Amino acid sequence: MKITVLTLFPEMYDGFLNSSIVSRIISNDLLEVKVVDIRDYALDKHRHVDDTPYGGGPGMLMKVDVLHRALLDNKQDDSYVLLTSPRQKPLQQEDLQRFSKMNDLIIVCGHYEGIDQRFETYIDERVSIGDYILTGGEMASLVLIDGIARLLEEGISSESLNEESYNDGLLEYPQYTRPPVYDGQSVPEVLQNGNHAEIRRYNLKMSLKETLKYRPELLENRNLTKEEEKLLQEIRCEEEI
Ligand code: ADE
Repeated sequence: MKITVLTLFPEMYDGFLNSSIVSRIISNDLLEVKVVDIRDYALDKHRHVDDTPYGGGPGMLMKVDVLHRALLDNKQDDSYVLLTSPRQKPLQQEDLQRFSKMNDLIIVCGHYEGIDQRFETYIDERVSIGDYILTGGEMASLVLIDGIARLLEEGISSESLNEESYNDGLLEYPQYTRPPVYDGQSVPEVLQNGNHAEIRRYNLKMSLKETLKYRPELLENRNLTKEEEKLLQEIRCEEEI
């Protein structure tokens, strides 16, 4: 898969792409990332990429002609074009799954107070990483690259992929590693006994407990299995004690 990022700050990507798990996925040829400087598509002497908004108002807007030239120069027939913007529902894991199946993704990083609205006719989708405002879209593009890279085949082990699908729609259960006791805190007995059926049930229960506490709305929209219903009942009883 190829991801092309159109940005005003290409230097922000070096550290990220040359370290971490993402660099390994890139070296394994599962992902190619191209970073393009939008400023290279400004035609005037001072390489302007922004201008004041019609009708007044604070801040500057990214210019439609510069953005469009940058896009056309990097677009293929099968490119899917994303624009980072806080004006969208926050990104979900399902979105990353959808994007990871594309052959060619282009991420345009918005900046300043926004972009000229006319550029939106050339994009397929806006992407927001949360209900807060950042100074620009670069962090959002890094989140996208990271989240997509780990989904690409062999980017993570098949065991952790299975674990995720089993856990689909629930928060992850807590995990522990050695030592068995630290500062008076013990690893739960059941995780040390090697009984895989018991461990699976315990982990599912802990996932449900975490979800009930931190994201109860995820349970409201879920078709609970008989086992999950029973575990939730147990959790509720234990909490009443
Ligand atoms: N640009 C500024 N804020 C953003 C956000 N929350 N998500 C994506 N792009 C942004």
